[in-house]
Amino acid sequence: MPPLPRLLAAALLLAAPAAPAQDTIKVGEFAALTGGIASFGQSSHKGTLLAIDELNAAGGVLGKKLALLTEDDQSLAGQPATIVRKLISQDHVVAILGEVASSKSLEAAPICQENHIPMISPASTNPKVTETGDYIFRVCFIDPFQGTVMAKFAASRGWKKVAVLTDVKQDYSMGLAQFFKAGVVQGGGEIVKEQSYSSGDKDFKPQLTSLKAAQPEAIFVPGYYAEVALIAKQARLLGIKAPLLGGDGWMGDSLLKVAGTALDGCYFSCHFSADDKAPAVQGFLASYRAKYGAEPDDMAALGYDSAMILAAAIKRAGTTDSAALRDALAATKDHPGVTGRITLDDKRNATKPAVILGVGQGGFHFVESVAP
Ligand code: PHE
Repeated sequence: MPPLPRLLAAALLLAAPAAPAQDTIKVGEFAALTGGIASFGQSSHKGTLLAIDELNAAGGVLGKKLALLTEDDQSLAGQPATIVRKLISQDHVVAILGEVASSKSLEAAPICQENHIPMISPASTNPKVTETGDYIFRVCFIDPFQGTVMAKFAASRGWKKVAVLTDVKQDYSMGLAQFFKAGVVQGGGEIVKEQSYSSGDKDFKPQLTSLKAAQPEAIFVPGYYAEVALIAKQARLLGIKAPLLGGDGWMGDSLLKVAGTALDGCYFSCHFSADDKAPAVQGFLASYRAKYGAEPDDMAALGYDSAMILAAAIKRAGTTDSAALRDALAATKDHPGVTGRITLDDKRNATKPAVILGVGQGGFHFVESVAP
């Protein structure tokens, strides 16, 4: 054998076993597909998957198809950490999408940060999520804004004496209550009574009885849809006529099925309005309906935006190398999302309008869009 090929052969033998060539770009997703808040995970997953399918149908990203690896955290604390560790160390995903609930995102974020794997939460609004570190992003607004929006809305309706009922098991609920209360006081209103409950509770009559005695003009309930529906029913049974107000956590498939008419005349803030005539929104509505035969909600729209923003960043970075991808994500500017134009600020949060919806006649109606 002539010297050069011999050398080459030796070099090949000595070379470390090459990592199997990746013919796909692996993206991890953790979501509550089952359990207490399954409506959140089911919706965000459907939106995320729609985006991945559309991207792959258009040829993928950097010449490769995207592979979405989805894991169910069963709505259980402890699961996000286990799942995210597995996605990173066994599956070698380049980025992670999730979760909707802030407590779940807060569990996973330190692990992504430690491993320098970019994480994008579609819908977690608690400020602490992205404060975890520079690899943690979100495509939604945060609760200091959402709380202020609802405090101003209460003031605009003349509801000055307000009570608050908080879920102490959810970082989301605790944070949103705090920002709402600050907004009420700043606007010259008064918090006349506060009570709390824990996710999974079914009987809220003791707390509601105590709130009723303080004669509030409105009651802020920054909880998730399952408990909010029961709270509304029990409030009406106890003769409480004051409107309930809430945040994005009200959005869930069983809210009105369980609450019936008990939430009529109530209002909550959220992220997305199907009434929006922007081409990005109308295109998303059409393809979501075609794929699932159902209407998308906020989490579906945010899930879609999270995957599209990731893909756009991979394209701009020209690589899935984690530091370059992190930098590209941080530079996200004017992305035409279905939940609005998305620019990530220096704290990796999106600044965009909130939508206020009213409840009545078995559905929701658009009240107003509030700019930051
Ligand atoms: N913002 C909520 C949280 O942080 C989750 C949520 C988002 C719920 C959007 C419904 C719709 O926990």
